[in-house]
Amino acid sequence: MRKLICIGVGLAVAMNSIGSIDALAGNPVEMLAFSMPDGTGGLKLATRASSDKEWRSIGNFWTFLGSDYGSWGSGKRMHNVRLAQDDSGKFWIVFNPDKNGEVAAYTCTDNLETWIPQEYRRADSDYMKALPSSVKFAPVEEATVQGQKVKGSVLTVDSDLVERLNGYVHYRQLDAARNEERADQDPWRFANLRPLKATVELDKEKSKKISDKFIGIFFEDINYGADGGLYAELIRNRDFEFSSADRKEWSSTTGWETTGDVTLEIATENPIHANNAHYAVISRGAKGGALTNGGFDGIVVKKGDKYILNMEGRAAAKTPVKVSLTDGDGKVLAQTKITIPAGNEWTKLESALKANADCGKATLKIEPLKKGKTELDMISLFPEKTFKGRRNGLREDLAQTLADLHPRFMRFPGGCVSHGNGIDNIYDWKGSIGPLEARKPLPNLWGYHQTRGLGFYEYFLFCEDLGMEPLPVLAAGVPCQNSSWKSHCSHDNLTSNGQQGGIPMEDMPAYIQDILDLVEYANGPADSEWGKVRAESGHPEPFNLKYIGIGNEDLISEAFKIRFKMIRDAINKKYPELIVVGTTGPFYEGSDYDEGWRFAKDEKVEMVDEHYYVAPGWYVNHRDFYDKYDRKGPKVYLGEYASHYPGRESNLECALSIALYLTDVERNADVVEMTTYAPLLSKRGRTQWRPDLIYFDNENINLSPDYYVQQMYGANPGTTYMPAKVTLQEKSCGKCDKTCDVIVGDDVYNRFGVSTVIDEKSGDTIVRIANMLPVAADVNLADYPTGKAEVTTLTGTPRQLDAKPTKAEIELNGEISVPAYSFTVVRIKQK
Ligand code: AHR
Repeated sequence: MRKLICIGVGLAVAMNSIGSIDALAGNPVEMLAFSMPDGTGGLKLATRASSDKEWRSIGNFWTFLGSDYGSWGSGKRMHNVRLAQDDSGKFWIVFNPDKNGEVAAYTCTDNLETWIPQEYRRADSDYMKALPSSVKFAPVEEATVQGQKVKGSVLTVDSDLVERLNGYVHYRQLDAARNEERADQDPWRFANLRPLKATVELDKEKSKKISDKFIGIFFEDINYGADGGLYAELIRNRDFEFSSADRKEWSSTTGWETTGDVTLEIATENPIHANNAHYAVISRGAKGGALTNGGFDGIVVKKGDKYILNMEGRAAAKTPVKVSLTDGDGKVLAQTKITIPAGNEWTKLESALKANADCGKATLKIEPLKKGKTELDMISLFPEKTFKGRRNGLREDLAQTLADLHPRFMRFPGGCVSHGNGIDNIYDWKGSIGPLEARKPLPNLWGYHQTRGLGFYEYFLFCEDLGMEPLPVLAAGVPCQNSSWKSHCSHDNLTSNGQQGGIPMEDMPAYIQDILDLVEYANGPADSEWGKVRAESGHPEPFNLKYIGIGNEDLISEAFKIRFKMIRDAINKKYPELIVVGTTGPFYEGSDYDEGWRFAKDEKVEMVDEHYYVAPGWYVNHRDFYDKYDRKGPKVYLGEYASHYPGRESNLECALSIALYLTDVERNADVVEMTTYAPLLSKRGRTQWRPDLIYFDNENINLSPDYYVQQMYGANPGTTYMPAKVTLQEKSCGKCDKTCDVIVGDDVYNRFGVSTVIDEKSGDTIVRIANMLPVAADVNLADYPTGKAEVTTLTGTPRQLDAKPTKAEIELNGEISVPAYSFTVVRIKQK
């Protein structure tokens, strides 16, 4: 049977009757709340007519609630679902996110569509006290839903609810289908579309001030973004601190090999620093040999360039050591000699190696020239040419690529790296500063090792070098909501150190003090406690920190809220001038988004960090997302976003969807003051997350079309936004002399965006035109100044991965043509 129902305003859809109920409206019906046998896929619902034994799922096994507990994706499970209504009509759910039933999760909803964030407790605690006493759960039982054996609990609901849920699921499915719209379908969607005439009429009266920090960069050590990436260190595991905590199969010797009769042992008795407990003991026999390191997938050396070698050493007897860079055939590319002094003290040793040839995959070789034992640690090699020639600096080409984006601010250290995999892995900024041997290496939750040689000091310096505002993001006292299962056992008092717990309350004062100390480290005078530490590193002047993020897309649980409030209150009290950026979870909707916003408004948080990674079709169909935002509420930092194509390729279509959407975000840049595309960097062969803005290996950098979009915004910032009315018409077919301009529909409008800004500094007018259509457009700019203009155009085919912009100087005189599938920025020079 098929029937029609109404969804929203006047939208009628044909609905398959699976899951709808034949009972008359207002009748009680049985509903089964269940999960699938392996626990994946979250909460499902089913109904049955009173005479039936078998259940029929609502919305073809639609997920009405996902578990938030567990690591990403299928790590999040739901078992033993029980659902019941309290006497006010609210639904409460209790389930076990783990198969063993050690953890209990609960949450509630008014409508089975939107839920409040989930809470987690030990299953043997008295968590049921948090639920109203009128909630009575039926026991979990086995049932069969459309032939599938499942487990769940039964409740009785009104048949109207089932009708409404069917409508809701169908609406969501339509929305999902729109989000899947792609340019592949354009030959059908726009089969008869002719080239367009676009008219842009400026409404100068309504111009408004917008943020001058619209484009920033998001830096996280993911995809080998820091060690092996932006951080110019060439030696992998220089400190012998790799361990199985980083990766199961790793140890202190990972990355190191020996040749000949040289052997390597690891000792810990008398280290350089307690934070750097392991060091190498090299024994050489009569024949000789070497300790070698191949760097991060090879060491790149350039003919004529110098490489600075540093190490700490000691030996029982003075030992000369030959250090070379060799190519794959063993040919020496550079060589130096160092003498390890005798004694018990560690000695810092430095030398330079000058390369006599180019090599993309060189190896560092350390050969003791005398029989016996030498002890070595912190074996480091940097190119002399780092960004701005800094010691312990950044890879010159990558840093310059970031500078070329013209970012106005930089987020650091993440991402999930900020709040870590469990509380023991929260990024402690103090462990990332000071002498390199005193820094605390940290397992990276993306499955590798952080030396933290690129730590907070280097971050602040880089911000200063590029004229960016620093935006450190620190954990809100809770770890990543996708933390692994490792330590999840004490949830009865919200002080667990694992999944969805938080720093124990008794440790919170110290944690808060650490955060306040970071502000002092950045801004305090050189004679303050932490300002002095900064000054000792070589920067007596303050770094002038204005923003601080607390929390990263956290679950907005009670554990989060209590801790966030404690931290923010302390920052506000001591540093009222600082802007604290809160968080609204990992998505543009859902329980964390809803509760995050409610909480931020109640607490009058100055700004919140929003995240969403969605398909190009989402951007095309949600262009009014920020138009409805409260102008008096918290400001928005769109801190993580990207356009995700199936297979996660970084193609032109994704980039154009972002270019288009940013015209709308810029229209709302009085609310959305800051944005950062994420992630930023990705090392070829070490990629864990795609798409990314910049792909690189040890020698090459590939810029994605998305990079150019960010650059076209970043290099042309505005401070005043000028609203405009855009009218689109199809051009005449040219086959007759009749005027046949055709008004076009929403599908066309959704794919064409214009945004106009004035840059107060130069007085230039900047117009951005994003055209995601398969046809070109003549754009009437009669309202704009005329004269010299610089035009940057990014265009190509939607699946193209290597599209690059072109630049031209033109005399603008009221009109410009933009190609199909293009993003154009016209910078009209102030006369
Ligand atoms: O950008 C990659 C990851 O996406 C970030 O670490 C995290 O915040 C988000 O889930």
